[in-house]
Amino acid sequence: MKNVITGMVGHGFYNRNSAPQMAAIAHVLPWLEEACSSLPLDDGAPAIGLADFGCSEGRNSVAAMTPLVAALRRRSSRAIQTIHSDLPTNDFAPLLAALRPGGQSVFADPLTSSAIVGGSMFDRLLPPQSIHLACTFNAIGFLSRRPVERLDGYILPNGPSALRNVGKVSREDRALFARQAAQDIERFLQARAEELLPGGKLLVEVFGAGETLRTCDGIYDVLNDALLEMIDEGHIDHETYADYFQPVYFRTLDELTASVRGPDAPLAGLFQIDRAETYEIAVPFVETFRETGDVQPYARDYTNFFRAFTESALRKGLAAHPQCDDLVPDIYRRAERLVAEHPERYPFHYIGIAMLLTRKSGA
Ligand SMILES: C[S@@+](CC[C@H](N)C(=O)[O-])C[C@H]1O[C@@H](n2cnc3c(N)ncnc32)[C@H](O)[C@@H]1O
Repeated sequence: MKNVITGMVGHGFYNRNSAPQMAAIAHVLPWLEEACSSLPLDDGAPAIGLADFGCSEGRNSVAAMTPLVAALRRRSSRAIQTIHSDLPTNDFAPLLAALRPGGQSVFADPLTSSAIVGGSMFDRLLPPQSIHLACTFNAIGFLSRRPVERLDGYILPNGPSALRNVGKVSREDRALFARQAAQDIERFLQARAEELLPGGKLLVEVFGAGETLRTCDGIYDVLNDALLEMIDEGHIDHETYADYFQPVYFRTLDELTASVRGPDAPLAGLFQIDRAETYEIAVPFVETFRETGDVQPYARDYTNFFRAFTESALRKGLAAHPQCDDLVPDIYRRAERLVAEHPERYPFHYIGIAMLLTRKSGA
């Protein structure tokens, strides 16, 4: 299947602009550390396997795995293997450089080795029953396919924020995206169920939507406003705008857990839910702005943050335009200017949703 994005902005840009994602990971790391203390380790697999799906350039992936490798090492002298996976088009170069600095494992453990695996997380990528603990952070909201060809009223299936309220997504289109997101999570869980050993743990964490706040609010509003400005000034037409949208869906916790929650859920035979939570994290650039009131660095950091994960789809959407290479940076310049001029229009909150699952034995 053709993937709908190529990855994040590469050459270290994602690594430099993903502190909020790391804060969202830090919230659930204690869940994983606790899981490491009770994982069954009495199997015959050649190594204790840890896998991260959607690792991007890897800084956050390595940071997340470091305490887990240490926790497992306290329990076992077996070899450990960390696996870092993302789309084949992802820029793996920074991660390749980071995994063995000075010829030694970044995990400071001679019996730990690491591997990079390219492929879609919606497919089985690893040998059956080879993994003890799998995770995915801030990634599963990226859909496996576009369930509609175009969205002509907004650039994201979840629609605009209640505060800004510029744009519209029809109820029918919204339902198609929700269904796609549900199918994606089922495919992801089925693939991981094959790879995990019985009793193995799976942590699924992603940006999402709470009762009132959503991680998409603010960031997609300002990107949408920048595009509308380009239309007003005649740089792009409405058709181009409608052909482009971000193939990302912001789930609620109920949507994330639906396929495993309750005895009648389709995958309830594969996994049990240990815990699940919706939470908000403090976003570093928002906190700094609150303290200093300095709007220019805030607008820059805010824009670089969402540029890192939106540019790939935006480039794809504008690829047929003869001036695509000039338009893309212009759109982000406009977005940064809009945030600096009207920070009150685009407040940003990072809502994480997460579930920790145990692979049941038998099924
Ligand atoms: C926002 S980044 C998250 C990176 C890292 N996990 C973190 O939390 O900082 C999302 C990642 O998901 C990856 N991704 C999107 N769709 C994917 C798929 N179908 N299979 C594997 N990775 C995918 C993207 O390439 C990107 O690197």
